[in-house]
Amino acid sequence: MSKIRAAITGVHGYVPDYVLTNAELEQMVDTSDEWIKTRTGISERRIQKGEGLATSDMGVEAVKGLLEKTGTSPDEIDLMICATVTADMPFPDTANIICDKVGIKNVFTFDINAACSGFLFTLATAAKYIESGSHKKVIVVGADKMSTIVDYTDRTTCVLFGDGAGAVLLEPSPEEGYGLVDSILRSNGEGRHYLHQKGGGSLNPASPHSIEQKMHYLYQNGRPVFKAAVSSMSSAVTEILENNNMSKDDLAWLVPHQANIRIIETVAKMADFPLEKVMINISKYGNTTAATLPLCLWDYEDKLKKGDNIVLTAFGGGFTWGAILLKWAI
Ligand code: ACO
Repeated sequence: MSKIRAAITGVHGYVPDYVLTNAELEQMVDTSDEWIKTRTGISERRIQKGEGLATSDMGVEAVKGLLEKTGTSPDEIDLMICATVTADMPFPDTANIICDKVGIKNVFTFDINAACSGFLFTLATAAKYIESGSHKKVIVVGADKMSTIVDYTDRTTCVLFGDGAGAVLLEPSPEEGYGLVDSILRSNGEGRHYLHQKGGGSLNPASPHSIEQKMHYLYQNGRPVFKAAVSSMSSAVTEILENNNMSKDDLAWLVPHQANIRIIETVAKMADFPLEKVMINISKYGNTTAATLPLCLWDYEDKLKKGDNIVLTAFGGGFTWGAILLKWAI
C-alpha cells in the first residue's frame, strides 16, 4: 500500500484593518521611513485594535473563511493545531479557544510555540497525524498578535512586527505524489539569548519588577539573529533539495519567513534562486511571526498551480528553523 501523504486542500488568511505606517512610527520613535524600508523592506503592518480582541479572534476569521471556501463543516474537523507565541492566555491553548468560537466541538487541539518557525513546525506535525491514518481533516493555524509583546518605545524592534493569521486545511491527498514530501526541523537553545520574551513564564512571572524591567516585551539582538537566519534557512533549503534529488530549477516557489527583505534576498541569492519565484509580502504586513508563511500562500494562491514544487523555510526564536518540501495539490 502506498504511503498516505498530507496535502494542503485550502488556505485562507486574515489581517486586521488598522494600518500602522512608517510615517506613524516616525511620530512614535526616532526612526524614518527611509531607514525602515531600506533596512527591512517594510512599508506598513496591520494592528488588531479593539477591546477584548486577541490572537484567537484573528485565527477565527482565518478558519471561518477556510471552512467556507473549502465547503467544510465544523463537525468534520478532527484536529486543530495553532502556532503562536502570543497565545490568548497561558492556558487553555489558543486552538481550543478558536475551535470554541468557530463551533468546532469535541476535537483534539494543541498549540505549538516555535516562534517564527511555528507554522513550519506545526504543518509538519499535523502532516504526521494524516500520514498515520488517525486523522482526516486537520486545520493548521499560524496566528500572532505581535503588537501585544512589542515595546513601541524601542525603535530596534517596533518597526518590524505586525498582527495577522493564516490557516490551511490538511487532508490525505486523493492523488499519489501530491502533498507534503519532506521536512527538516531544527532547534538550538543556545540562540535563545538573542531573541526571547523574558516575562510571563515560570522564570519571571508577572510582578511589579517584571513590568518595570519590561520583561513582557520581545527582546531581540538583531545582528546575530540576522546572520543565523540567513545561514540556517539557506542550509535548510539546500539540504531538503539534496535529500530529494532536486535542484532549484525543479522548484516553482520558495516561501521564506518574512522577517527582513535583506534576509529573504540573501537566502534567495545563496540558493541562486530568482526573486520572481520567491513569495514576498513583507512590505505590507511586516513580520507576523507564525502567520507569515500561510499569509504568503494566501496572497499568492491564484499564482499556484497543481503540481508546483514548493519549499517553505523559516527561522525564529529558540533558535528554531527548517524547511518543508511539498507538491501543491489543488
Ligand atoms: N530606525 C533608525 N535607526 C535604527 C532603527 C530604526 N528603526 N533600528 C535600529 N537602528 C539603528 C541602531 O540603533 C544602530 O545604530 P548605532 O549604529 O548608532 O548603534 C543602527 O541602526 C544599526 O543597527 P543594527 O541593529 O545593526 O541594524 P541592522 O542593519 O542589523 O538591522 C534588524 C536591524 C532589522 C533588526 C536586523 O538585524 C534584522 O532583521 N534581524 C533579524 C530579524 C529576524 O530574522 N528575526 C527572526 C524572526 S523573529 C521571531 O522569531 C519572533
